[in-house]
Amino acid sequence: MSETAEKATLAVGGKQLDMPIKKGTIGPDVMDISSLYAQAKMFTFDPGFTSTASCESKITYIDGDEGVLLYRGYPIEQLAEHGDFIETCYLLLYGNLPNLAERKEFEDAITHHTMIHEQMSRFFSGFRRDAHPMAVMVGTVGALSAFYHDSTDINDPRQREIASRRMIAKLPTIAAMTYKYSIGQPFVYPRNDLSYASNFLHMCFAVPCEPYKVNPVLARAMDRIFTLHADHEQNASTSTVRLAGSSGANPFACIAAGIACLWGPAHGGANEAALEMLAEIGHVDNIPKYIAKAKDKNDPFRLMGFGHRVYKNYDPRAKIMQKTAHEVLQELGIKDDPLLDVAVELEQIALKDEYFVERKLYPNIDFYSGITLRALGFPTSMFTVLFALARTVGWIAQWREMIEDPNQRIGRPRQLYTGATQRDYMPMSRRGK
Ligand code: SDX
Repeated sequence: MSETAEKATLAVGGKQLDMPIKKGTIGPDVMDISSLYAQAKMFTFDPGFTSTASCESKITYIDGDEGVLLYRGYPIEQLAEHGDFIETCYLLLYGNLPNLAERKEFEDAITHHTMIHEQMSRFFSGFRRDAHPMAVMVGTVGALSAFYHDSTDINDPRQREIASRRMIAKLPTIAAMTYKYSIGQPFVYPRNDLSYASNFLHMCFAVPCEPYKVNPVLARAMDRIFTLHADHEQNASTSTVRLAGSSGANPFACIAAGIACLWGPAHGGANEAALEMLAEIGHVDNIPKYIAKAKDKNDPFRLMGFGHRVYKNYDPRAKIMQKTAHEVLQELGIKDDPLLDVAVELEQIALKDEYFVERKLYPNIDFYSGITLRALGFPTSMFTVLFALARTVGWIAQWREMIEDPNQRIGRPRQLYTGATQRDYMPMSRRGK
């Protein structure tokens, strides 16, 4: 970040206050208002953080107006096309694409840390079989801090590195165990001869009774889906991880907090909600009724998988996800998926409707992901688990950046108070009936 000679002048309380303007490499400048309270005894007010930069970061850049997403400067389209999730993890964590030796060291480290402490498998039996998988994920990922004490000292760079690699390695194992537990099948151990995505599909869909061969086309699709979900600037769950980390909480607890936040249907839970919405619509003939519901201010219904706080253009990930949906359906010989027909038609209608056009509401990553994940064999309740699995590397990269920032302080926003002014205690006898 570079300080500029430019200043913003605020006229407040009869005073002229100069606020420094800071420039990034690309994207909007920021007005540094950190001295505002000291100078004017006033706070800024921005409840949804629509105009607030919470931090300086070098990891991911989004241009919402242009529909651009860069991981460490590389366009998501190029990484999805030419790269894979393991090298995307390396890129997000260390800032550059790995060379051959770096990739081998990193991939070997991840591969050889995919097993979890055997005693952790007892955690699952404490849940009902029909527990939502995200409830299981929040609980078991948080519990990792109970098993890996040797990597919870956030001030030790070596322990931060070990914890980072442990979580990237173990989240697929925990996610697969969560799925197996929900369907009453035995857990399948990770295999070191398989790639990250193939190993995950094997742990989810293999059974002890017969060999399971991973379909390379489906594994490639799964790997690309992980890349698309890996990071996304300061979204709600990433901001949760940063805020939790700013208190010095251990990394496992911070990631569990991120999983909890991602669960919400306005955020990562939208992929599950979007597929349920498409299933509820059921047929293209029903689309107009649901478009009307989405536009009706008195109806809480929203088109799930549509709209975004930052993208006011097409989410670049949605385009790649749509292409992946077609690839997977074709590989599986699914000629026509009625839900895909509904999704494509719904998108066409919405993108021409004035209500969506003037609000710049476009499909986001969650609109097509459910169709692909369902075709891969996952139940809708697992969709956000897969999002959390992939986003773990982004959360960790952002958490490390925050911890390693020399100016890092505990995050502690203030408020506009509109409650009762001071008043004296009222004894029961005077409180009326
Ligand atoms: C993710 O932040 C990230 O980066 C998140 C994410 C990531 O990778 O981490 O990209 C992942 O969370 C994607 C978003 C998934 N959520 C959904 O698909 C749920 C449906 N979308 C909406 O709930 C909504 O669009 C949000 C939550 C995504 C964005 O909310 P905002 O920015 O607060 O937008 P808003 O509520 O202020 O909406 C502006 C207008 C409103 O109408 P008016 O009051 O101006 O008349 O657009 C309307 C909204 O009612 N609107 C919608 C709509 N989304 C917004 N109307 C119908 N359907 C929708 N989906």
